[in-house]
Formats: sequence, C-alpha cells, structure tokens
Amino acid sequence: MTFLFNSDAQRGAVFREAFARELPHLPFAIGPATVSPADIRYIITWSVPEALEQYRNLDILFSVGAGIDQFRLTAIPPEVKVVRMVEDGIIRMMQEYVTLAVLALHRNIPAYLDLQRRREWRALPQKQATDRCVGVLGLGVLGRAVLESLRPFGFRLSGWSRSDKTIEGVATYSGDAGLGRMLGETDILICLLPLTGATRGILNQDLFAQLPKGAALVHAGRGAQLESSALLAALDTGQLAGAVVDVTEPEPLPGDHALWAHPKVLLTPHVASVTQADTAARAVIDNIKRYEAGLDLVGLVDRTRGY
Ligand code: NAP
Ligand code: GLV
Repeated sequence: MTFLFNSDAQRGAVFREAFARELPHLPFAIGPATVSPADIRYIITWSVPEALEQYRNLDILFSVGAGIDQFRLTAIPPEVKVVRMVEDGIIRMMQEYVTLAVLALHRNIPAYLDLQRRREWRALPQKQATDRCVGVLGLGVLGRAVLESLRPFGFRLSGWSRSDKTIEGVATYSGDAGLGRMLGETDILICLLPLTGATRGILNQDLFAQLPKGAALVHAGRGAQLESSALLAALDTGQLAGAVVDVTEPEPLPGDHALWAHPKVLLTPHVASVTQADTAARAVIDNIKRYEAGLDLVGLVDRTRGY
C-alpha cells in the first residue's frame, strides 16, 4: 500500500526524504503514472485525480492546501477521508500577511502610496490602534492564529464563526445576528472563511453597508466570497477606505479588471500563505501515524459542513 505524492516535484523531493526517514515501511510514489491506482492507500493532491474510482483502496485524500473547495466532495467516495492542510508554515505565513495588511490599512499605506505617486508630502490624520476594532470572519486554525499575531498592537479584537467560541480578549459572535453585531463595530475586517455554499458571495454590498463608514477589508479567503463590483462601489463612495485583496474570481485576475488600478486597493496574486514542504511533510506524516494508531486525524473535513 503506497503513499502517492501528486503535486510539484520540488515539494515531492522534500516529502520523499521525510517519509523515508519517518515511515520507512510505506512505499512512496511521485506522480500517478508511477503506481497502480489499486495500490494507493494515501494521496496528497491539489485536485482530485482522474479516474478516482480506480483508487479502490484509498483511505485518505490529503489536500495540498488549507482550502478544500477545489474538490467536488460528492465525487469522492464517502468512505475516503478528506483532510485539509494544517501545518506550521502555512499558519506563520498567514500571520505575516494579515498582520502586514492590517498595519498597512491602519497606517493609511494605500493613501500614502497615492500621495507618493503624486509627489505630495502631506501627513494624514492617524488613529491609534486602541481606537480601532479588527474583526475576523472565520475562527479556525488561521483566523485564531492571526488574532494572536494582532494582539500585541492593542487593537480591539473580534471574530465570527459558525459555532459559538470563547477566546480570551476577543469578542466572539456567531450566526446571522452575530455577524451584524460584529460588523457594526469593525474598522478592519479580515476574511478567512472557507468557500462553501454559505460563504460564497458573503463579501457583498449588504455586508459592506453594515460596516462603519471608512472601514477597510483584508480578503485572504477565496475569490468567490467577494463581489468585486460591490467592493469597488464601496471604495468609490468612501464607505470603505481601503482593501487588501489576495484572492479573486477568476484567478488570475484579467488584466483589464478595475481592481488592478484602484488607488485604494493593494492586490496580491493568491500568495498570502503557501504550504511549506518541510513542515507539511511533518504534519502529513504525523497524521498517518495518528491514523495507523487509531487516533483522530488533524484537519479532517466534515463533509456535511463542506469544510
Ligand atoms: P478552518 O480551520 O476550517 O476554519 C474555518 C472557520 O470558518 C471556522 O471557524 C468555521 O466556523 C468558520 N466558518 C465556516 N463556515 C462558516 C459560516 N457559514 N459562517 C460562519 N463561520 C463559518 O479553516 P482555516 O484553516 O482557518 O482556513 C480558512 C480558509 O483560508 C481556507 O478554507 C482557505 O479558503 C483560506 N486560505 C487562503 C490562503 C491564501 O493564500 N489566500 C491560504 C490558506 C487558506 P466553526 O469554527 O464554527 O466551524
Ligand atoms: C491556499 O490558498 C490554501 O488553501 O492553502
């Protein structure tokens, strides 16, 4: 029974070395062409491989990424466990990106970049961090980690999730009514939700209207959660003061899209966080050891919730 690595060769080499060291009993293959589908017990992949029905001894399908919306879950046999990526490297990179984005918005960097382009030396009014509330949509592995990174700056912190949560020093909300209450007090909103039927298009005109005038957005979830025309309209009316956008629909964003050139937008090409081969290999190996010892898997996807 084999572990199949179905992603880029560079990461594959790092995985191969770690697997040889930690799980020497488990044959390791890179690329589906190198192994018979019936021999595969575990696979790590970004997208579901073709002819998945031939993988009749598959136990676990690991996602290369934290998100699993690229999988059509109904196409995966129900007995196959789907596991998303939970690993230290991806968490650290998201902490860096969101901290950078929140501080950039807090310190008016989009407006200063605009002034720089116009060669205008002018100070803008500056609020203190203690006078701003930063709210996170999604209190999962990444949402909670970025809240921890933001804590030392003194922002008031809040967060929203599907189920109730208690997090020290963070005002937590859940459900539709909870979302409205949180938005009304949020100056910088961060989206770290998984893409599901319930979160598709959630960053829309109605949501932006519930934020205080002059609020800002950091979007590092999935592109299809954002209605970009609503964002552009909110930026143009001043309802929103700025946005940092890492994910768009479609990706790559077409060259003529208005987000590219909007002076209040900082845009990055879906690079907020990337799975790191060494820490990811360790996380997958730990999970296989847990599975073989009959323990719960870290990052197991609940198919009824879709994340
Ligand atoms: P996670 O641990 O599964 O956490 C998801 C969080 O979202 C949970 O707190 C969950 O609530 C909440 N949630 C889900 N559906 C909701 C709904 N309908 N209403 C309210 N809350 C809802 O996921 P994660 O590891 O933190 O990752 C989050 C997402 O980040 C990924 O799915 C991916 O899309 C995105 N991501 C982006 C990048 C990038 O480079 N831009 C990189 C990595 C990941 P409960 O706690 O109640 O379940
Ligand atoms: C990247 O977007 C991921 O889901 O890991």
